[in-house]
Amino acid sequence: MEDRSVHIKSFGCQMNKLDAGLVASALRDAGFRLTDGVKDADAVVINTCSVRQHAEDRVLSNLGHLKHLKQHRPGLVVAVIGCMAQRLGGTLLEHEAVDIVCGPAQIPQLADLITEAIGRHEKHLAVTEKIRFPGADDAALDDFESTYSIRDKQIPGQAFVRVMRGCNYFCTYCVVPYVRGPEACRSPRAIIEQTRRLADAGVRQVTFLGQTVNSYKYDDGRKTHSLADLLDMATEVQGIEWIKFVTSYPRDEYYKDILLAMVDSPKVCRYLHMPAQSGSDRVLRAMNRHYTAGHYLEMLERARAIVPDIAVAGDFIVGFPGETEEDFQATVDLVRKARYRNCFVFKYSPRPGTAADKRLTDTIPDDVKQKRNVELLAVQKQISDELSRDFLGRDVTVLVEGLSKKSHVNPVEGEDRPQLMGRTSTDHIVVFNGPASLAGRFAQVHILRASPLTLFGELSV
Ligand code: 5AD
Ligand code: SF4
Repeated sequence: MEDRSVHIKSFGCQMNKLDAGLVASALRDAGFRLTDGVKDADAVVINTCSVRQHAEDRVLSNLGHLKHLKQHRPGLVVAVIGCMAQRLGGTLLEHEAVDIVCGPAQIPQLADLITEAIGRHEKHLAVTEKIRFPGADDAALDDFESTYSIRDKQIPGQAFVRVMRGCNYFCTYCVVPYVRGPEACRSPRAIIEQTRRLADAGVRQVTFLGQTVNSYKYDDGRKTHSLADLLDMATEVQGIEWIKFVTSYPRDEYYKDILLAMVDSPKVCRYLHMPAQSGSDRVLRAMNRHYTAGHYLEMLERARAIVPDIAVAGDFIVGFPGETEEDFQATVDLVRKARYRNCFVFKYSPRPGTAADKRLTDTIPDDVKQKRNVELLAVQKQISDELSRDFLGRDVTVLVEGLSKKSHVNPVEGEDRPQLMGRTSTDHIVVFNGPASLAGRFAQVHILRASPLTLFGELSV
């Protein structure tokens, strides 16, 4: 087969990384060679994110570079896939650099589209009008997921398995329901079969992915399966030791059974990513979130009563339209009380088409958003630091991911030795020295130092 090469660049969340992996496998199967850069590639695939303007700006700046590059290399094929492709469709195709625009539901066709485009200067749009793709299309996407996820494991020993697509919540700031469509759950059979095949291929940890993973529901005619049922089934899969799931929407009826699954099996990781978004009831209402700050804290309290050592992570948006200093202080208060192990904080970014963008004005100046962002992270840092210290002197089990980034200089082992990085079942990052052959395997590490986000230690024997 003629040598064709492709470079894939991905922006955005875990869901997108999973798509990038699936696309990589599919393209490789279609005879493409994957390259690390654009320089020697016949085609470039840009996997885009629309959740904040900043993410879209980065893609646009990338396309700007590619436009220049194409002046010298007019044959270079540029395909834009993912959420921005779905959101902007034909408009994106008008960009001089772009040859193919392909929505999330059309990803299985991408290899063919690129193959056709190489050598033929023709633009192509493949974006579904309706993002919901029932029946045959759904099954096709399911097959695609099952087949390709086995190979492109981006982290040794770990794999992500999508259990559902889309979202039904319509939080007023969020573009996801518009670009990823309504909730559509994969069958437990497909998910568990995929998990089994991943385990056979050496995977030890699976992470079930969904925008609101705890609303997973699948009626197979005999029974309605919940996420807790899926977790139970996954614990039976031989070879799988850890099961994680993200992201959870804070709702009573959806999470109790899940906590019980954690208690029932050591394989279900005691980790909950449950975004609160704000601590102000007024702002929560304006965001169309279905809980108050008090209710959210109650849920955490009950969660900790069932699983005392559960680690919780949260997301927050600062500078939502009309957010007063008092509203923001309510968020600070919630963060203090929630005792998250880690928090992600985002500055509100108006997204075209969302209810907040249509009905509200982006009133909070960027410097105020920035100040609130920094303040909230500082509050969280102190809490993360306190929680990390609890690990001092303890032995923890980690699943080793590989060599640690340079920034992780281990104060325990000194600077001159290569360090490994792994994560605990509660998603704590652990840095320690050891043989690279441990990547994808479990190790016991004795913790000697702690920083807010990283634990440092040595292999225990
Ligand atoms: N502006 C800022 N942050 C946002 N998020 C979602 N939409 C927006 C937006 N318009 C954040 C939420 C969500 C995370 C994935 O991104 O906190 O949980
Ligand atoms: Fe967006 Fe809300 Fe759905 Fe999460 S729950 S994807 S924030 S609409």
